[in-house]
Amino acid sequence: MKKSCLLFAGLALSCSVFAQKNYLEESKTAKTERMQWWHDDTFGMFIHWGLYAVPAGTYNGKDGGAEWIMETHQIPTAEYEKYASQFNPQQFDAKKWVSIAKAAGAKYMVITSKHHDGFSMWDSKVTDYDIVDATPFKRDVIKELADACKSAGIKFGLYHSIMDWHHPNANPKQKPEQKPDFAKYREEYLKPQLAELIKKYDPAILWFDGEWISEWTEDQGKELYNYLRGLKPSLVINNRISKARGGMEGMDKYENAAGDFGTPEQEILKTNSQEYWESCMTINNNWGFVKNDQNWKSAETLINNLIDVAAKGGNYLLNVGPNAAGEIPAASVERLGEMGEWLKQNKEAIYSTNSLENYKEGDHLRFTQSKDGKTTYAIFNQQQENEISIAAIQPKKGSKIYLLGLNQPLNWTSSDGKLRVKLPADLPGKYAWVLKIQVASSKGK
Ligand code: GLC
Repeated sequence: MKKSCLLFAGLALSCSVFAQKNYLEESKTAKTERMQWWHDDTFGMFIHWGLYAVPAGTYNGKDGGAEWIMETHQIPTAEYEKYASQFNPQQFDAKKWVSIAKAAGAKYMVITSKHHDGFSMWDSKVTDYDIVDATPFKRDVIKELADACKSAGIKFGLYHSIMDWHHPNANPKQKPEQKPDFAKYREEYLKPQLAELIKKYDPAILWFDGEWISEWTEDQGKELYNYLRGLKPSLVINNRISKARGGMEGMDKYENAAGDFGTPEQEILKTNSQEYWESCMTINNNWGFVKNDQNWKSAETLINNLIDVAAKGGNYLLNVGPNAAGEIPAASVERLGEMGEWLKQNKEAIYSTNSLENYKEGDHLRFTQSKDGKTTYAIFNQQQENEISIAAIQPKKGSKIYLLGLNQPLNWTSSDGKLRVKLPADLPGKYAWVLKIQVASSKGK
């Protein structure tokens, strides 16, 4: 063997000894353990907030685009940058936002650290195009929110765009004469910023987006995934770090892609899934604040969505788009409050539950299951005439059946393969009700 080969073999050996752990080879048990809190938490608040709140969906008198307004109206970078000098959200109060999330029953929060427009919402040492250096506001909102979440016991996550319309090396359109060097952007900007975010704010979740650009590849996704988990092994990372996401349905198109969970967008999976997934959705039509968008989903729809998602084994990440003053729109707060009210009574059927293979019966009945498999929750969203009948559940002999929100057990019978439960004339609460039933055994996720 040549000396150079020996040297090479030695290097390879030492490389493998010191090689970074491959987090993509994590065992199923280790992944289940890492993902447990996330799966148990079920409901999160998404926040899209950035300079785009200033134009609020209108540019030069023309409507269109929220957080995409820069692209929608082809606003030149130098002109878009001017929104920074107008961004002064005096009403911003991290504690208030967190208390809105908490009152809604959300257990985690994911906020945009950087959207596609490339503006950093924290005090980044890697750029001056950030909230502290470039706005009159000068406050680090990511820090304030991270702190407020920590004291309130809400898990904190960051949405971060891979695509960047502002960075000359990431946006081929911006300065073609500079011959955009995407690898330079990735190594000298994207990764250092992410490392900074992890170090400063200790996020539990990193939520990527903008991965569809042609410069981004599965290999880069895998490398970034390993790099980030190397910095913080317990991180939970969405599948948009990779190239595997299949359209708006959001689940992986192929095996072994980087990322921990699928990301259906503005939709809920058609059926239950054994994979981890989270449906992200807006309350009106837009992610970022748009002053003319008053198309709000009702609290009833949102509650039914949450129930449907939980029954299918997913998480629900529901978005708010605060305005340029720093306020979460009142219409969102109201609806979130109603969700919180509903959850106060019925939380047991949503958080820390598993999905049953048989997760529904007809259009108005969904099931979830306690982790020990001993309890099935039957959630119905239609008022019944004194009695509800359910074919899919066999209660344990002598089981007590309760309606959440009432203390008295209900009368029931089971015959011809049907469970019939007598309901009180006045059901407590609104929109949907939960029967808590002890079962002999059942199959769950
Ligand atoms: C889309 C949009 C983006 C939004 C995201 C949320 O990918 O590009 O504006 O942030 O969906 O899922």
